[in-house]
Amino acid sequence: MRAFADFLPIYQHWTLVDHNAENLAAAVDVLSDWADTASQSDGRLSLKRGARHIEVRMRCFDFAQDPASCWTADTGLVTASALLDLTSKSWIAHFANALSTTESAVLATLTFDGTIVADPSHPLDNTVAEAFRAHQLRDKGFGPAAGSAAADSLKLSMERLGYKIVAGSSPWHFEDRKAAVFIHTIEGIATAAHEIAQMDSISDWQHDRLNKTRLLTIGHTDVFSYRQ
Ligand SMILES: C[S@@+](CC[C@H](N)C(=O)[O-])C[C@H]1O[C@@H](n2cnc3c(N)ncnc32)[C@H](O)[C@@H]1O
Repeated sequence: MRAFADFLPIYQHWTLVDHNAENLAAAVDVLSDWADTASQSDGRLSLKRGARHIEVRMRCFDFAQDPASCWTADTGLVTASALLDLTSKSWIAHFANALSTTESAVLATLTFDGTIVADPSHPLDNTVAEAFRAHQLRDKGFGPAAGSAAADSLKLSMERLGYKIVAGSSPWHFEDRKAAVFIHTIEGIATAAHEIAQMDSISDWQHDRLNKTRLLTIGHTDVFSYRQ
């Protein structure tokens, strides 16, 4: 929302959905800091930022079963950030059909594309990356996860429904070993890889990555799809 609000019309209505209430509460704090002014009433957050008036509703909801109930028939744009790779191919097909029913455009960002590359290399890089990719395919509540196939799955579903696609690579490049996001990312990869590979040496990989990495690249794909 923060990335795109300045490119969208002056009056905007957003509904932010997550099944974790803490994430939604954090979003209220972050958005209130980001805006010039912020006020809350009746569960709505009213923001003013520059010329923009933005109404935000928070919805704590598990959309694994029914994504369509998250938006209304007059919704212009549905966005998903770092979500699609957790879902399944059948959920993505269901999601695409729901978008087509309301003719909404969709922007799905930060979908993992399977790439994990680091410099300098480490003997366990391939083992860890393979285990991480296998962990990605575990069911996250949506059926067997699509993982790195998710972006292509969305593109295919939307194309079949007559939508246009604009897609591109959007990799994360980490160069700062002290950054919290880098540390969390390495710890997350090591934990997931260990659950699959069960190798004690993964903690050596984690240690070396945290202390020696000059550059870590995690590949992502962004997909925008719209009906002309
Ligand atoms: C990788 S995080 C991305 C968070 C945020 N969208 C972002 O881009 O920073 C995935 C998010 O999906 C949410 N999530 C996962 N499964 C969900 C479900 N079934 N219903 C609603 N939200 C879900 C998690 O709570 C988490 O916040």
